[in-house]
Amino acid sequence: MSVVFDKINNIFLLETDKSTYQMRINEIGILEHLYYGAKVYKSDMSYLIIDCDRGFSGNPYELKDHRGISMDTRPNEYSVAGIGDYRVNALSVVNVDGSRSIDLRYKKHCIIEGKYRLKGLPYVRENGSKVQTLVITLEDRLLGIEVELYYGVFEDKDIITRSVVISNKNSGTVKLQKIASACLDFSYGQYDIIHFYGRHCMERMVERIPVTNNIQVVASGRGMSSHHHNPFVILCDKSANEDTGAAYGVMLMYSGNHRTEIEMDQTGGVRIVTGINNEKFEWNLGVNEKFYAPETILSFSEDGLNGLSQNYHRILRENVCDPKYQKIKRPILINNWEATYFDFDKTKLLTLAKEAKQLGIEMLVLDDGWFGKRNDDNRGLGDWVVNEEKLGGTLSNLVDEINKIGLKFGLWIEPEMVNEDSDLYRKHPEWALREPEREPIVSRNQLVLDMSREDVVEYLFECLDKVIKSANIEYIKWDFNRSVSNVFSNYHNLEKQGEISHRFVLGTYELMDRLLKANPKIMIEGCAGGGGRYDAGILFYSTQIWCSDDTDAIERIKIQKGTSYGYPVSTMGSHVSASPNHQTMRTTPLHTRGVVAMSGTFGYELDIAKLSNAEKEEIKSQIADFHKYYWLIQNGKYYRLTDEHTEAYYTAWEFVDESQKEVLLNLVVTHVQANGKYPFVKLKGLNPDSMYVEESSGKKYTGIALMKGGYSFGIIQGDYPAMQLHFVVE
Ligand code: DGJ
Repeated sequence: MSVVFDKINNIFLLETDKSTYQMRINEIGILEHLYYGAKVYKSDMSYLIIDCDRGFSGNPYELKDHRGISMDTRPNEYSVAGIGDYRVNALSVVNVDGSRSIDLRYKKHCIIEGKYRLKGLPYVRENGSKVQTLVITLEDRLLGIEVELYYGVFEDKDIITRSVVISNKNSGTVKLQKIASACLDFSYGQYDIIHFYGRHCMERMVERIPVTNNIQVVASGRGMSSHHHNPFVILCDKSANEDTGAAYGVMLMYSGNHRTEIEMDQTGGVRIVTGINNEKFEWNLGVNEKFYAPETILSFSEDGLNGLSQNYHRILRENVCDPKYQKIKRPILINNWEATYFDFDKTKLLTLAKEAKQLGIEMLVLDDGWFGKRNDDNRGLGDWVVNEEKLGGTLSNLVDEINKIGLKFGLWIEPEMVNEDSDLYRKHPEWALREPEREPIVSRNQLVLDMSREDVVEYLFECLDKVIKSANIEYIKWDFNRSVSNVFSNYHNLEKQGEISHRFVLGTYELMDRLLKANPKIMIEGCAGGGGRYDAGILFYSTQIWCSDDTDAIERIKIQKGTSYGYPVSTMGSHVSASPNHQTMRTTPLHTRGVVAMSGTFGYELDIAKLSNAEKEEIKSQIADFHKYYWLIQNGKYYRLTDEHTEAYYTAWEFVDESQKEVLLNLVVTHVQANGKYPFVKLKGLNPDSMYVEESSGKKYTGIALMKGGYSFGIIQGDYPAMQLHFVVE
């Protein structure tokens, strides 16, 4: 049993293989958080709460004679606004009478076998896991508001999911001004925060900073999870490193505006609150209506950051992404974007396909420019009608010819956008998000469609479904190329304008869901100008995400490494592109580009017809290698081996299969040195007693030697050289 209620002490015990989570119902029915961390079995952790009469920290009325007991200093499981907890709150409402306090007390709970789901939102799937659900219902009796706290306990995955459902049983509309998905209080400890910031072409850079005596915020208000701040935050012990130490992950499963706040309070406690960004958010909860807050995926590991990452890799691969891709091999693709940009026709595409086939590539993806009058990025978005003149016939003719060559076919779309210069906008200017009297912000010369409107979602479904069904399309690249602004819907009334950003995300999820259900054969690759919508929510629908528009192998090492803290390599769209690279003009060896792109969902994105015969032969052997290592890379344990602060001139990473019989060691020298130090790594996760044979040299090493003594690569020279070594147990 992973969820137990101790009736005598009113304690909820949630246990996974290596973690314990505890809450208690206190003397006046308030749900308090007791503990989350390393397994303490059934120990009652309520001794950790110490009361003390602190000035300016008031007391609940029933306890006014116990001046040490305050909502302001005790750890609360779901902290609410207005009743004396002055730290960052999870819930804030405006009641029918205009009052702004809410007082939630325990009402009931239930424990259910299996995993709950959330209406209209992505969720962590049960998919055969050992999982129990706990639902604790809290209520404000005066207001008639009920809050259900959901906990999904994945015992053998060290994952606890959380979500919140609020119901209005009052006689009038209640306004939700903030409804977080989780609040987590840590009474003691010195922590660091690790968060993932960035920009277009440089997503998910890692920053580690101390928790300080203020409120730190990681948030996006761009209408998307964003290149700039990812909805994943790690809180770890100051001493935690890649391999040891306590680390907690807080990952919001949401693709829109998000906000995670971290506050250190007057007692030294730390609170994290995560959920939909409450800035500019307001939801009118009508009588008998419910609001579902997105899910949060929590994990704890005592095995440092690698351990924490591996917990997330597993849950995302097995329970968030469509589980069928754990067993189906995804095709190695060639995307025509960096090969042709908008300048393509049928002949060019067929030439690319024929060349690709000869090298062993399995799918051609036709990127932007196949529809409407879209010959550059200033027009055409919204007109999802095939440009038959450009394609030299119907889409179906083209796809048939590509299939005959022996390649599958994939297609690019960008559903949520519209250009002013499009038939759609000329017909339906009111379908774009914009205030009626104000010129909107344009970005890449495009506007954003109002996905909160049912007619917009319906239009997109109808025309995209028609295109997908018109030909043998097996893959969709779903792009999103600007931040959202001028969030105003011409369809909804004034009171609802604070709901639009969230309704927009729900509209996108609905469209993805409907298209997948109507076309079960397609696989979606998410994209938002590269990795601008890289989150667990989008992964529920799209098994892989184009990791970045920066395809430079050396930059990609940093981007993919940063991404790996939360997300598995099986989700990282990664391609070999031309050299010099189009974003940086850097020249790198084809081998290095292959090694880096292989740590992802492998593909190519360059004009292969222009390559020399030697380069083509090299690509053939890269593809053979990728097939050989496919399952090891996609499903194996991934370890970061180096730290750029200590080994600033090379980066190494490794995959180890579940049975510890096979290892793929990768290393790239990013700053070559004259007469320099030897690149050296200690391998991780091996069986100490096994004898590993390194395939290219035939040399043998024990697992313990490779882990404790390490492996030295000797002097490596040249421009950005890479090594890829395969070890197998003899
Ligand atoms: C941005 C994407 O990230 C690129 O790969 C490409 O699809 C372009 N959009 C097309 O407009």
